[in-house]
Amino acid sequence: MATFDFRLANENDLDFISQLSARVFSKYGVYDEIVLGWLFEPEVITIIIAAGADPLGFAMVTLEREKWFEPRRGHLLAIGVFPEHQRKRIGTALLEHMEEIARKYGVEEMLLWTAVDNRQALSFFQNAGFYIVGSEDRYYPRGQAALALSKKLSQ
Ligand SMILES: CC(C)(COP(=O)(O)OP(=O)(O)OC[C@H]1O[C@@H](n2cnc3c(N)ncnc32)[C@H](O)[C@@H]1OP(=O)(O)O)[C@@H](O)C(=O)NCCC(=O)NCCS
Repeated sequence: MATFDFRLANENDLDFISQLSARVFSKYGVYDEIVLGWLFEPEVITIIIAAGADPLGFAMVTLEREKWFEPRRGHLLAIGVFPEHQRKRIGTALLEHMEEIARKYGVEEMLLWTAVDNRQALSFFQNAGFYIVGSEDRYYPRGQAALALSKKLSQ
């Protein structure tokens, strides 16, 4: 079984994150720019998955809570793997790593939005234990509808 390295993203990853976002998210909006904006937000954690020195994918999550004493909710903002490396369980390893980090912060539920037409992402998230909990028309900047998905994280 392949082994991967995980690390927090830093300024040296800007080009990689922007290029990968342009390839996999540009159908929905200018996500090469939008995602870079998220990267520097406080409370956003961005993890790179790599094989040695080669980055293969990234995931971004916010760990939110409305009041300091309430449990945090994780919001997976983005997850992407280079098309050449997809369907090799890299996305699964990345998501599991992100869920592990979220658990350490006391997150009990992970939420995300994905496009109704993104069959591969829907299959991926449902395979990973997410359930559809809502929808919104014209969610994306280019007008596509999205589904909200949720997964309870066992502590
Ligand atoms: C979604 C994504 C991150 C999945 O990463 P991945 O490394 O390719 O996924 P995995 O190899 O871990 O797949 C795990 C399971 O998800 C499902 N799956 C993944 N890709 C699929 C596809 N193209 N078609 C159908 N099912 C798919 C399968 O059940 C798969 O298990 P299997 O290969 O044993 O059948 C990747 O396809 C991607 O980067 N897509 C573009 C960006 C995107 O849409 N991100 C999600 C919205 S933020």
